[in-house]
Amino acid sequence: MKTKLGLLLAASISFSSSVMADSEAMMQAAGKELFNKCSACHSLDESKNAFGPSLIGVVGRQAASLPRFAYSDALRNSNITWDEENLRKWIAGNDTFVPGTRMRHVEITDKAEQDYLIAYLKTLK
Ligand code: HEC
Repeated sequence: MKTKLGLLLAASISFSSSVMADSEAMMQAAGKELFNKCSACHSLDESKNAFGPSLIGVVGRQAASLPRFAYSDALRNSNITWDEENLRKWIAGNDTFVPGTRMRHVEITDKAEQDYLIAYLKTLK
């Protein structure tokens, strides 16, 4: 009896952790779709800035810190670090969060969509 219960527990634990891994992967995949709204301007090549700066390694980065990109004064002086909370505010309404930014207005206010996009941005290393 004891062993059966143990097996059952072990099975359900490994089941739930694989579900968690799946949902993380699913969030990243959904975020990748949403990134289509960004990729016109943001290159995924670390060495290249397109119309916008490269977003490789953006999570945890100091705003406006890439060399060779002509950031706006607004972003340069913003003193923001791109943690999750600030990324959320930025994609919810970048020009409200940092008035004077050169980035065209984006507005992703759906909390789940923000989660997906941030999950994807974290994979850009
Ligand atoms: C029309 C072009 C364009 C689109 C579309 C766009 N961006 Fe940007 N992005 C820019 C520009 C230009 C900047 C630099 C802004 C500045 O200097 O004020 C920027 C800056 C950023 C930064 C700050 C990077 C840093 O190095 O400090 C992040 C983060 C960012 N964009 C994320 C996104 C995300 C996420 C999306 C999609 C939801 C997106 N952008 C869509 C042009 C764009």
